[in-house]
Amino acid sequence: MARVVVTREVPRGPLSLLTDAGHEVHVREGAAPPYRSELLELVADAEGLLCTLTERIDADVLDAAPRLRAIGLFSVGSDSVDVDGATARGIAVGNTPDVLTDATADLALALILATARRLPEAAANVTGGAWRTWEPLGLLGLELRGARLCVVGAGRIGRATGERAAAFGMDVDYVSRGDDLLAALRRADVVSLHAPLTEQTRHLIDAAALAAMKRGSILVNTARGGLVDQVALAAALASGQLAAAGLDVTDPEPLPADDPLLAAPNVLVLPHIGSATTVARERMAERACRNLLAALAGEPMPWPVNAVGR
Ligand code: DGY
Repeated sequence: MARVVVTREVPRGPLSLLTDAGHEVHVREGAAPPYRSELLELVADAEGLLCTLTERIDADVLDAAPRLRAIGLFSVGSDSVDVDGATARGIAVGNTPDVLTDATADLALALILATARRLPEAAANVTGGAWRTWEPLGLLGLELRGARLCVVGAGRIGRATGERAAAFGMDVDYVSRGDDLLAALRRADVVSLHAPLTEQTRHLIDAAALAAMKRGSILVNTARGGLVDQVALAAALASGQLAAAGLDVTDPEPLPADDPLLAAPNVLVLPHIGSATTVARERMAERACRNLLAALAGEPMPWPVNAVGR
């Protein structure tokens, strides 16, 4: 029997996989993430840890968890964890791929549609009382059929987004590591980001990349805020280099209330809801629990991030 600590409220059903196997599961109550000091206390006696992307599991947390054997991430992204540090300490780390692919690709498409058709501005015109009449030349946007989408990061979610865009008649380019990113950006009407956040991809979309994009094009990000230099993005939007941006993720989350991106009329910022469907979140909880179950039994995790236990 092992003690498993769950840092946040997650769908409860799958936790029975752990309790049925005899493990003791401690769920920290409350919708908000734990403060740092609380996190350090929480992990002190944990052998298994089920945590979300809001908890930074760095060397200090790993050092505060001398009994920890397994981390079951409730996310597909693993940038919140010092994976090398976990590996060095013999701690298995697993994530939740596949089960949030459709939900996240749906949201990427929603952001493409919303920004291409200028929904934030259109809705603000109505709620702000500026809309007076139907206008032949009002709020003209981008027609998706025949427009070119550049998917940066050709993994599962990127491909699923590209498939959806193709169904709307878009021409789709995929850019992977090693491809000529700037050349692809120059051709695109819409750029959608799906790369993981690593040392190599931080600020992948910087001032130079934004300058390479077509004038009047659109940027959508459902991956990680750190992929984009947001100061450069705000400048590109203000100058008209970019027509619009749809951001489900930012750095930090949430943005400070005075961030220029929140005031820009052509930007839609969402609160990181890419995987927020009932089905996806239930399945994410199940995968996180199955990863922990396996590792605590001394078996390889079904969805491993590192090679510990394999
Ligand atoms: C992930 O899983 O990495 C998403 O960002 C949140 O579901």
